[in-house]
Amino acid sequence: MKIVVSRLDEFPPGERRIVQAGRRSIGVFRVGDRFYAINNHCPHMGGPLCLGRTKPWVSSTGPGEYAMAEEEALVACPWHGWEYDLETGQSFLGPGEPPARAYTVSVEPRVEEGTVAADQVSAPEPGAKGGRRPGPYVTETYPVHVEDAYVVVETSPSPAVKPDPVGGAS
Ligand code: FES
Repeated sequence: MKIVVSRLDEFPPGERRIVQAGRRSIGVFRVGDRFYAINNHCPHMGGPLCLGRTKPWVSSTGPGEYAMAEEEALVACPWHGWEYDLETGQSFLGPGEPPARAYTVSVEPRVEEGTVAADQVSAPEPGAKGGRRPGPYVTETYPVHVEDAYVVVETSPSPAVKPDPVGGAS
């Protein structure tokens, strides 16, 4: 099903709209020239996810070093603060998790007597995005496109991938 969200010229960057699709509530976000649509129902405890604050990705190469992406790409649920990637619906961070990344550090003696250096920092875990560990929740996202100057969300499930008929068993 296609849901017309807004006229394109009435939906500036940085804004969001919340639309109803049957019993579903969907948040549509414009980030620069890209649109994202995500379920307005937090998988943690059902909070109104799309009413939360948006945030940019923060990446880090080591303790005390971080860089913020230019665009907002996460939305934080207003109930308990779980953050969701607008593109994939993947959750990050949550209650009880430390707000900063942890690093493995080893301490080794230097040549100079009486001094030590903590100089080995581990690489981010495989599968982590922006250096962050994925959480247990993934919420639904939907394709959004611009059609005849209108922003449209597609809520139909994507067609199942059919097996390739070529090269079957011989
Ligand atoms: S309901 Fe969204 S973080 Fe708990």
